[in-house]
Amino acid sequence: MQHLTTNTDIRQHINTPLEEKRQGEVFELEQPMVADNGKKFYIESYGCQMNFNDSEVVAAILTKGGFGVTKDYEQADLILLNTCSIRDKAEQRIRNRLRTLQTVKKERPEALIGVLGCMAERLKKKLLEEEQIVDIVVGPDAYRDLPNLVVEAEGGQRAVNVLLSREETYGEINPIRLNSNGVTAFISIMRGCDNMCSFCVVPFTRGRERSRNAYSIVAEATDLVNRGFKEVTLLGQNVDSYKWKNPETNQVVNFAELLEMVALVSPQLRVRFSTSHPKDMTDEVLYMIAKYENICKYIHLPVQSGSSRILKKMNRTYDRAWYEERVAAIRRIIPDCAISTDIIAGFCSETEEDHQETIRLMNDVKYEMAYMFWYSERPGTLAARRYEDDVPLKVKKRRLQEIINLENDHSLERNQKDVGKIHKVLIEKTSKRSDADLCGRNDQNKMVIFPREDYQVGEYVNVLVESCSSASLKGKVVGYA
Ligand code: 5AD
Ligand code: SF4
Repeated sequence: MQHLTTNTDIRQHINTPLEEKRQGEVFELEQPMVADNGKKFYIESYGCQMNFNDSEVVAAILTKGGFGVTKDYEQADLILLNTCSIRDKAEQRIRNRLRTLQTVKKERPEALIGVLGCMAERLKKKLLEEEQIVDIVVGPDAYRDLPNLVVEAEGGQRAVNVLLSREETYGEINPIRLNSNGVTAFISIMRGCDNMCSFCVVPFTRGRERSRNAYSIVAEATDLVNRGFKEVTLLGQNVDSYKWKNPETNQVVNFAELLEMVALVSPQLRVRFSTSHPKDMTDEVLYMIAKYENICKYIHLPVQSGSSRILKKMNRTYDRAWYEERVAAIRRIIPDCAISTDIIAGFCSETEEDHQETIRLMNDVKYEMAYMFWYSERPGTLAARRYEDDVPLKVKKRRLQEIINLENDHSLERNQKDVGKIHKVLIEKTSKRSDADLCGRNDQNKMVIFPREDYQVGEYVNVLVESCSSASLKGKVVGYA
């Protein structure tokens, strides 16, 4: 999943009455009431898209509890960090952030500091011992309890709730969109993970896998469309294993069917999703992507390693041949589909030959994009307990650099093939580099930059691509799409 960091801003929250009648089902999402308690919260998010979306659920819960929001932590009565544990570096970053918040606590001891998310879940009470300024520790399944925990902390007690749940999906909560461009939004369709990849802390921090009520997902997408949003990204650690059983009819909805339900909300709504798992991605899903123009032709399919021996040790439950067959299926069923991946360099016992297998796989697939990391041992994981973290850091970093260099070549090569062609782009924002330019993504999730002229965020335009780098495409608008 994409990793981002931002501050908070609540905009564009319009209370829309909601009635979802698709397929005879009605689902009403909760709309937060604004009953001001005079207190303000500030929230900062780290880690994956799921975490950013969780902060939006937290915002809805706190708003309902009477809190207002502020973008300025100096003004906040409650300062929240929604944290990530995926690699040691992610946790170090939070620790450093807590250091800088010490001054706030000194100047305003009554301000409460809360740590949310994966790091809270991993460290539990220990976090209170290690970080003196923290008042509240809340795991990913306990956000409904936040208003109570705040009351407890206001009474002078340090408050912890890190209970994991087998049922919690926050299904009926309508997230308050933070830092929204009013065009693109995340929708969580499931929580947790049952895969137990040996390197990964997620099953420990986010608990067992559970799928959210399909009609609540459709209701959320419908609400977003009614408010002018044009794109949703369906989020889960492993979206292909989405499975929701309607308790009234016993009808089961799988991921392919859910994709169709969301695609049918509006032909003007683009549908994206992340993350796919090679072991579970079915042809049925691929045919569904091919069937609907508004389901984007882009699949994030983490491979982690090109060596079957390492994949086995990682407990990925597929081998290289299986992965290559899934890539071939994508190419066969959706010929214009972009594929991106995640790769870990220097996992336990990785040899130069294993590394070369990863390089060879990359040369075979030629990914459009990749997120690449060196292996960081996480306490409590299968790998930490069973295998020695025996690849020297220097070697990990060198292998990672080779992987990054190769990926840059491939991204550039792929982007060069887009030059001279017209791409349908959904305008998302002003370009980072220049106020005179706008940018947005094409179907394949590539960032396209073009002169602003009179075009507006939220419009679909056709862009003739004239040049590219390994990171983006550049061109000019030739008309509305
Ligand atoms: N070390 C390095 N990278 C990791 N990832 C997950 N756990 C670790 C770890 N311990 C990477 C994987 C995953 C992505 C979200 O983060 O590639 O797909
Ligand atoms: Fe997301 Fe994983 Fe980080 Fe948790 S540990 S925030 S699930 S990337």
